Amino acid sequence: MAMATLDPEQSLFSAGSYFGTQPPPPTLDQDIASVRSFAHRQRDLGRKVVLVTSGGTTVPLELNVVRFLDNFSAGTRGATSAEYFLKAGYAVIFMHRQFSLQPFSRHYSHSTNPFLDFLEIEHNPDKSSNSSNIAVTPSKRDKLLEVLTTYKSVQQSGLLHTLTFVTVNDYLWLLRAVSQELSILGRSVLYYLAAAVSDFFLPRQKMSEHKIQSGKGSLLIEMDQVPKILKPLVDEWTPDGFIVSFKLETDPALLVPKAQAALERYGHHLVIGNNLHRRKYEVVFVSRDHQGSAASGVAITWLRISPAAVDARGRAKEIEEDIVAELAKRHQAWIDDLLQQSFE
Ligand code: PMT
Repeated sequence: MAMATLDPEQSLFSAGSYFGTQPPPPTLDQDIASVRSFAHRQRDLGRKVVLVTSGGTTVPLELNVVRFLDNFSAGTRGATSAEYFLKAGYAVIFMHRQFSLQPFSRHYSHSTNPFLDFLEIEHNPDKSSNSSNIAVTPSKRDKLLEVLTTYKSVQQSGLLHTLTFVTVNDYLWLLRAVSQELSILGRSVLYYLAAAVSDFFLPRQKMSEHKIQSGKGSLLIEMDQVPKILKPLVDEWTPDGFIVSFKLETDPALLVPKAQAALERYGHHLVIGNNLHRRKYEVVFVSRDHQGSAASGVAITWLRISPAAVDARGRAKEIEEDIVAELAKRHQAWIDDLLQQSFE
């Protein structure tokens, strides 16, 4: 693909100028082909589909990358939500940062629950033989069996498709291509944009080829603003989908106003606001419908769980269970409303 040259004075990228000047990731065509066949299969089976984006994006500082900026996100929100979407009957495209948490395996991440600690060696009583067996620690067996059974059944039924990105450039190219492919699903597709996307990047044309050398004092880097791709996503790439974005803030006073501003600016369906420190127990849904507590056509609905809450199985409750249940309900109500309107 021929790239347009970048005007050295240009610092405000539109989505068009971004994709005209920044190169696509090398695996893009392959990823598009896999998403296309997944989307067609789900459409033929009449399933709803959700695109879950998850994890942080990097911004490389050199072409031969030694250093990069990163965005905070372990991928917990995305990986956990993907499991609940599967449970709710959705087929899931899980587009995540390489090596961030993934559905099912998240329960046994290397740091929080190292899987080697769940296994025991059963030595063969015959001392002359060196063959031993591996067994699961009895106290961990039930949970592991449950996770493994669901994981295998999801794999077998082809309900989960995984894509990876690393840089913000990979993410933007992938999001555009995937949303264009999913547009064939019309209203049956839900976008759940939980990835933490960098707001700034270094255009390829301004990057140093080799490792930036120290020894010249402090380092000054001027970054360009990443185009706000929610606008073309909503208006052009997938105009019929149900689009949910996230807003992360650390100042509680900014959360609702910023979520509201995003809703007005992009014209999509819902913004879920979360505060960095309370995100596991509290989120706020900001939408344009007439439910909730606010006047002026904006509905503000808080969803909270207690840190001590347990689920139906007596395990620690995850707020994503309630987020996804509420979204599945709203998505269906929206589809039904549009259908109803088309008959009137
Ligand atoms: O993974 P965890 O550790 O569990 O953390 C989850 C989370 C806190 C990262 C997640 O719940 C969350 O809030 N994700 C969105 C964080 C974010 O990037 O917020 P933002 O204000 O920068 O972006 C808001 C929205 O605009 C996002 O939906 C983003 O996909 C979208 N965006 C961002 C930048 C950009 N150039 N274009 C966009 O469309």
